[in-house]
Amino acid sequence: MPNGCSSKPWPEHERARAGILGAASKSLYPHLHMTSPASPIGVFDSGIGGLSVLQALRHELPHERFIYLADSGYAPYGDARGDAFVQQRTRTIARHLCEQHQIKVLVIACNTATAAAVDMLRAEMPELPLIGVEPAIKPASLSSQTGHVGVMATRGTVSSARFARLVADHGQRVQFHVQPCDGLAKAIEESTEQPVPADPMATEVARLCARYVNALGSFGQKTGEMDSLVLGCTHYIFAREQLRTLLGPDIQFIDTGAPVARQTRRVLERLGTLASESGPLPAAEGQVQLMTTGSLQALQAAASRWLDLPAQCCSSVQVGESSAIPTAA
Ligand code: DGL
Repeated sequence: MPNGCSSKPWPEHERARAGILGAASKSLYPHLHMTSPASPIGVFDSGIGGLSVLQALRHELPHERFIYLADSGYAPYGDARGDAFVQQRTRTIARHLCEQHQIKVLVIACNTATAAAVDMLRAEMPELPLIGVEPAIKPASLSSQTGHVGVMATRGTVSSARFARLVADHGQRVQFHVQPCDGLAKAIEESTEQPVPADPMATEVARLCARYVNALGSFGQKTGEMDSLVLGCTHYIFAREQLRTLLGPDIQFIDTGAPVARQTRRVLERLGTLASESGPLPAAEGQVQLMTTGSLQALQAAASRWLDLPAQCCSSVQVGESSAIPTAA
């Protein structure tokens, strides 16, 4: 399995695409059989954090079209929401993206949603190719020289069974120091509504980063010190500047944007739905559509600040509660 990605073979999809599923007529999501290389890639997060993954996806797959949904109206997912809430939002959003946008693959650009809901979604929507993200525990275990690695993630992620398994699988050689970072994703969300700060260290984001870095312990290259920091929440990439100031230039930050993007390419290649890579690159306005269930101004500011995307790419959307999975006709 590629580092930092949560993915599995999807024999159901491959059989479906080859027309041999035999269950196509019973499919709950028949439109999935009609997606093509021209269909968009769906990406979602509890908010603007997944824009860091979208950045990597655009870099790896510049000929693809993307539909990004920021569930900012319901964020944060990871502090105290609980699995049932995150599962319900993930299901609702996955259905919305399939039904309204005919996505050909869904990238869950949220560690918390992946931890709580990826297995459920695979079971409920087996036709939908899914790529999740999970903290880069494995790459950190392979690259750390001191054998000590810090991990910052949401409380939801670090208390999940998936995370426990990941650490158990890769914790033989390395000791992981794990810090749930309550409030940090929310502070990063809220920072996008404020003007770009003159001093990034005089912000709530910096204050929380300092608190959690101190709680983790000693960073450095000496025996017993943490030489690496896993950014186990997609929002935290946007606190990189503050974390770098706090930790100095020598600590390795590890996130999963690039491996997830490469895995998405592999999945599309395997399914035969990679967009044609000949011809001119699409303009940003036609290539990326960003939607939010929260503040449109915040999304526009984040898209401009971090992805250099114009406000016209952004719109509001309501994705309400949906009940259980639909029943087959
Ligand atoms: N960006 C999300 C993650 O990667 C979650 C942030 C939140 O909503 O708590 O975990």
